[in-house]
Amino acid sequence: MPDFSTKMNFNDKTNPKSKIQNPKFKRGPVIAIDGPAGSGKSTVSKLLAKELGFTYIDTGAMYRAVALRAYELGIDSENEGSLRDLCSKINLCFAPLPVSPRKEGRKKQEVSDCTNKIFIDGNDYSEKIRTPFVGQLSSKVSSQKVVRDAMVRLQRLFAKKGFVVMEGRDIGTVVFPDADVKLYLDASPEVRGKRRYKELKEKGETVSLDKIIEEVRIRDQRDSTRQHAPLAMAKDAIYIDTSNMGLREVLAVMMQVIKKEGVKEVRSQKSEVKS
Ligand code: DC
Repeated sequence: MPDFSTKMNFNDKTNPKSKIQNPKFKRGPVIAIDGPAGSGKSTVSKLLAKELGFTYIDTGAMYRAVALRAYELGIDSENEGSLRDLCSKINLCFAPLPVSPRKEGRKKQEVSDCTNKIFIDGNDYSEKIRTPFVGQLSSKVSSQKVVRDAMVRLQRLFAKKGFVVMEGRDIGTVVFPDADVKLYLDASPEVRGKRRYKELKEKGETVSLDKIIEEVRIRDQRDSTRQHAPLAMAKDAIYIDTSNMGLREVLAVMMQVIKKEGVKEVRSQKSEVKS
């Protein structure tokens, strides 16, 4: 199964052509995107990664997959010992989704083109982790230090060569405090609840909007008050309230910030390295 650490080969010391020239970056750039559930960060991060030609890493999917695997094995979200054991053995990796030939000719970026599949021990968890139940479960499991330590280690490994857009709750504060660009996306709980509601309805699920908004609030409360690596905005992050913004608008603002930081320049070095 391919993983990001093997895919990104831009700093290969045996190949002098592959060295990053810009002394500002020790590795390729890391763009950290944090924010609460439903802030729109997943959709926009995928498009941003596509726009930059970077790899997209969804850290929430990692916590969701571990939480679901624990559940399948009958491990309680409070059982530190069993979770430690699970995390020490787990084989978690991402693989890019194959682009269907039909889509290749399309000019418009499709969010689905930028998505990755997530596997645990060779089994595809991509779809089954996207339920409200797994959302709540992952919020509990991710509050355990043993799980966080294991996931943070993996996240750093996946991004060790850079050229990544990494999205989560603690990327700019804990995983990559030295990220080249930090963005924090937010929106009101009502707007975020409505977004989740729409997503679930589109998938054909029967849900109540009030219940979803309540769940968003519960998850916010748990994610931002937990002891280890709570959801927080890094001091040097740029805050974007997406409540009244469309997807393309948010993407445009992000690209402006990123260009200002000179990341675009490094992206063209990546293209040179590749050719
Ligand atoms: O982004 P998401 O809804 O898929 O994330 C699922 C849960 O995982 C969320 O409730 C909190 C947790 N999470 C985390 O603790 N740290 C991250 N970097 C990403 C997600």
